[in-house]
Amino acid sequence: IHLKPFNTFGIDEVAEYFATISDLDDLQDVADLPYKLQVLGGGSNILLTAPVQGVVAHNALKGHSVLREDAHNVWLQVQAGEVWHDLVLYATGMGWGGIENLALIPGTVGAAPIQNIGAYGAEVREVLEEVTFYHLQDKTFVTYGNADCRFGYRDSVFKHELRGRAFITSVVLRLSKQPVFNTSYGAIEQELAAMDVQTPTVQAIAQAVMNIRSSKLPDPRVTGNAGSFFKNPTVPRAQYEALLPAYPSMPHFVVSDSMVKIPAAWLIEQCGWKGHRRGDAGVHTRQALVLVNYGGAKGREVWELSGEIVASVAGKFGIELEREVQVW
Ligand code: EPU
Repeated sequence: IHLKPFNTFGIDEVAEYFATISDLDDLQDVADLPYKLQVLGGGSNILLTAPVQGVVAHNALKGHSVLREDAHNVWLQVQAGEVWHDLVLYATGMGWGGIENLALIPGTVGAAPIQNIGAYGAEVREVLEEVTFYHLQDKTFVTYGNADCRFGYRDSVFKHELRGRAFITSVVLRLSKQPVFNTSYGAIEQELAAMDVQTPTVQAIAQAVMNIRSSKLPDPRVTGNAGSFFKNPTVPRAQYEALLPAYPSMPHFVVSDSMVKIPAAWLIEQCGWKGHRRGDAGVHTRQALVLVNYGGAKGREVWELSGEIVASVAGKFGIELEREVQVW
């Protein structure tokens, strides 16, 4: 089966077998097959570089329900195959707060905890109470609480010990009926002002985020991509200060007393890569952190381009970029 429609990078690789998982019985049946199993959600954070051996199990578990609520919060259980952005539209439509800053992030609900999706000053870990998954080796259903997931910046246990071992089936989010708006990220305040919004609502914030994202991030339906290809590197403050005399305009965010984060997009742009194109693989013209497929790029070509970017940023700044996208 051709995987091109199943990955937002639009890479045309094939899988030996493909299974659509619509209920938990399907899942157990497929897990019992004598093949290697790879879990696919929205395919928005993967780069396919080779034919996939074994079964690609596409998560199509759908539905959501309110588990409980009190005066302040609702606990919403959502099946992992739901589209993340549809969930944001539903929650903000209900006036529930907590995920409005995460509007328009491509992918499924089940993928959200894996890389702890984040944008505009918010991360999913702030509202995620539980993740339930099927352990593909132990063949049991397991529920993890927030701490068990060991969330970090674009990171969780699902990228480490449980990598390739967990098929996430549902999550529980704690959403707020009296939302505290997070407009700390300057771009949101500017956009709300441009939209002439005086009193923010969760819907207005989601709309502001949608406007900002669509103005600078490529729409995967038009140009293949998987969002940020690299993580923003965290470096010791001393290293940042040593670079400052040569690069006085280098942006940074304080992470702790001793560490700062530098936007990878800025580092990549300084190395001259922004807008670079080779064949159908390229670096986006408006956001240097996003690698794109203009149509017929092979996964290997995107991978090689990313390797050259890593090498040139390391050569110029002594900073090692880490890929955020999962490579298959
Ligand atoms: N910048 C450049 N050149 C560019 C783009 C940005 O120099 O081409 C500099 C600017 O100075 C800007 C700074 O980089 O102020 C940060 O840029 P931006 O606000 O666009 O965010 P980012 O750090 O590049 C991160 C996330 C995005 C998320 C945005 C907004 C990571 C790896 N990426 O990008 O997440 O949408 O912040 O919060 O942390 C994703 O993970 O797929 C993703 C798109």
